[in-house]
Amino acid sequence: MDLAVFMHPPRAQIMEHSTSSNKVIFHLLFFLLPILGCARYAQASSGHPKIEAIFSFGDSYTDTGNFVRLAAAALTVIPYNSLPYGETFFGHPTGRASNGRLVVDFIAEKFGVPFVPPYLGQVKNFTYGANFAVIGATALDLAFFQKNNITGVPPFNSSLTVQLDWFHKLKPTLCSTAQGCKEYFEKSLFFMGAFGGNDYVFLLAAGKTVDEVMSYVPKVVEAISAGVEAVIEDGARYVVVPGQVPIGCLPIALTMYASPNKTDDYDGGTGCLRRLNELAGHHNAALAAAVSLLRSKYPAAAIVFADYYRPVTRFLQKPGKFGFSGSSRLRACCGGGGGGQYNYNATAACGLPGASACRDPAASISWDGIHLTEAAYARIAAGWLHGPYAHPRILAAERP
Ligand SMILES: *[C@@H]1O[C@H](CO)[C@@H](O)[C@H](O)[C@H]1NC(C)=O
Ligand SMILES: *[C@@H]1O[C@H](CO)[C@@H](O)[C@H](O)[C@H]1NC(C)=O
Ligand SMILES: *[C@@H]1O[C@H](CO)[C@@H](O)[C@H](O)[C@H]1NC(C)=O
Ligand SMILES: *[C@@H]1O[C@H](CO)[C@@H](O)[C@H](O)[C@H]1NC(C)=O
Ligand SMILES: *[C@@H]1O[C@H](CO)[C@@H](O)[C@H](O)[C@H]1NC(C)=O
Repeated sequence: MDLAVFMHPPRAQIMEHSTSSNKVIFHLLFFLLPILGCARYAQASSGHPKIEAIFSFGDSYTDTGNFVRLAAAALTVIPYNSLPYGETFFGHPTGRASNGRLVVDFIAEKFGVPFVPPYLGQVKNFTYGANFAVIGATALDLAFFQKNNITGVPPFNSSLTVQLDWFHKLKPTLCSTAQGCKEYFEKSLFFMGAFGGNDYVFLLAAGKTVDEVMSYVPKVVEAISAGVEAVIEDGARYVVVPGQVPIGCLPIALTMYASPNKTDDYDGGTGCLRRLNELAGHHNAALAAAVSLLRSKYPAAAIVFADYYRPVTRFLQKPGKFGFSGSSRLRACCGGGGGGQYNYNATAACGLPGASACRDPAASISWDGIHLTEAAYARIAAGWLHGPYAHPRILAAERP
């Protein structure tokens, strides 16, 4: 099988791809890593919680190397396994869907713990945490999509509940007594997300309108909320819940959902697709409300809503202020888009022949048209740790 791309464009716009017979083309929007040999136990400065391990769940915005292991048997070509993925920081591909570190990596660095090892990776010592996130993962189970005739969902069993199953399988090796587990997880930071982007993309790809997809938001948010509850029941006291990026600003979406109606379908300020951004905004508002309910239900836990949407929007509105170049605002750094305005080309996606990276990835917001550059993730991580892009900011979220 040949894994070409990662997002199902709407039916009408992919006729030329969907008839391709001997290529299985996965179009996955959020389809969506190496381990430091030594732990850097920099003492956390006083005033913020001492974190000794990180456990993370999510999709390609958080995967540090699970998908490339999970898919290895089924796919002969995995773009995330090829340079220029990883070129900027690691110098080689790690399975991360970026040129370098992700938000979770910057947060691990801040707390002085090793980069979170992927659960399916070669390193099996999870003393300092484990990452269960998988490129392409959904909040809802594969069975849900199959039952509802949503075809085109890749056959990888990697949804939120599958990731939780992995965590529960690992748990007895991490701690053995109730008291031991309590003390261990109290000093652990949990990431529940991002989730949802793939759910929506698969629904859109199955021909549903944005309005129809909106009606699935409560179900997706409920699944994420249940995931937060599950880890809290397991002893988590410190959970970060990331929302969605502005999906309508991603070069892949701008390419595949391009509209001739410039005045109505695009946001005048950012140049992003309005309706897809409304979907992401609706998801984020519902998720933030769910997080707020969870805070009342679990007063002993600190639960952070972490925003990808506002920082990305700010970068696009004032790229220079954040060190990004204005001309590459909506362009993928890595791609084979020829003369295309967004540099996104499904048949020459980043990591495949025909694509190459821009000269200065640090000046770009979008890495591959779907995921962000290390430079963008660094700024988002800082905004989650110190504010203003997380509520409460992670460093202030001391356990009550
Ligand atoms: C995992 O690594 C830590 C720190 O290096 C070490 O103390 C621990 O014994 C290791 N655990 C296993 C099971 O090897
Ligand atoms: C799914 O599609 C099949 C074939 O088109 C149809 O028979 C079935 O009723 C559909 N099921 C649902 C739940 O829509
Ligand atoms: C996915 O894995 C779970 C266990 O984690 C299993 O219960 C389920 O049947 C699997 N689903 C599919 C479609 O393979
Ligand atoms: C753009 O969409 C609006 C609202 O649907 C419609 O009134 C208008 O005629 C459209 N313009 C073009 C150029 O298609
Ligand atoms: C997209 O990539 C393919 C394969 O490299 C190439 O043939 C095609 O010309 C590219 N399309 C554009 C618009 O550059």
